[in-house]
Order: sequence, then C-alpha cells, then structure tokens
Amino acid sequence: MIALACDHTGVALKGEIAKMLDEMGLEWKDFGNYDAANRDDDYPVWGYKAAQAVASGECDRGILICGTGIGIGIAAGKVKGIRVCTCSDVYSAELSKRHNNSNILTMGARVVGSELAKMIARHWLTAEFEGGRHQRRVDMITAIENGTFSAD
Ligand code: RB5
Repeated sequence: MIALACDHTGVALKGEIAKMLDEMGLEWKDFGNYDAANRDDDYPVWGYKAAQAVASGECDRGILICGTGIGIGIAAGKVKGIRVCTCSDVYSAELSKRHNNSNILTMGARVVGSELAKMIARHWLTAEFEGGRHQRRVDMITAIENGTFSAD
C-alpha cells in the first residue's frame, strides 16, 4: 500500500501518480489534500498523516508532493522511522532506495513535470534496497534518530 499526500500545489500531480500506480497494479491510499483551490492548507498536516501511516506499517511507503517537495519532506522526515528522499531526477530516486532504503519520496509539483515525476516514482518504486554495507549506514541513521549513536 502506497501512501499519497500533497498540499494544494500537488493535487493534479498526485492524481497522475495515482493513475500510474493503478496501471502498475499497486494499491494506494490518499491522505489529502483533495482541494487544489485551498491555498491556505499546510503541507506539514499532509506530510505528517502520510508519514504516520508509513511509520505505523499501515502503508509500506509514500509519495508526497508540495510545491518544491521540500517542506512536505522535512515534515514527513520528523516522524520516527521515516527516511525521505526529495528528488527531481531519476538517479537520486533510484539510489535513495538502493543505498538509503528511503521509504518516502517527495517531489515538487512546481519543479518537475508530470512525465518526469512519474518516471522518478517508477524508478523509486521498482528499485530494491541492497543491504550489506548500506544496511550498516541506515542502522547508524536509525541510531542517530534514537539518540544512541556514537561517532567515536
Ligand atoms: C506553498 O505555497 C509552498 O510553500 C509549498 O507547497 C511547498 O513548496 C513548501 O515547501
């Protein structure tokens, strides 16, 4: 199950991504916003809802959209267990899964066109985490999050 969320800037792109997920045979759940005209909405609300769903295991991963992808990504990344990649290129998206085991992809609706966004999302969704030395590094990130990391 893929968590989808966006602020008002991302409603149209989120719809395109949902259509692509349907074509890929992947299930998704939309945590809002649903209203592109509501320019007063706050991206942390939507980022938090989707990130909670991923962190709790209700969803396996998430694709979140705001104007730049940055604000919603910062908000989602504050939730324990979330590793966000904010991407506007395919290489970073794929490597963020293979090396960082990112569980939320964010994109900027004002940064990438819908075809590029779908290509980025497809690469991210189909890439596999490589584990090994990358697992050690992801474990260090988790230790930082838990306050148990020592850099010495
Ligand atoms: C909304 O205008 C905009 O600030 C938001 O979509 C996002 O780009 C924030 O990072």
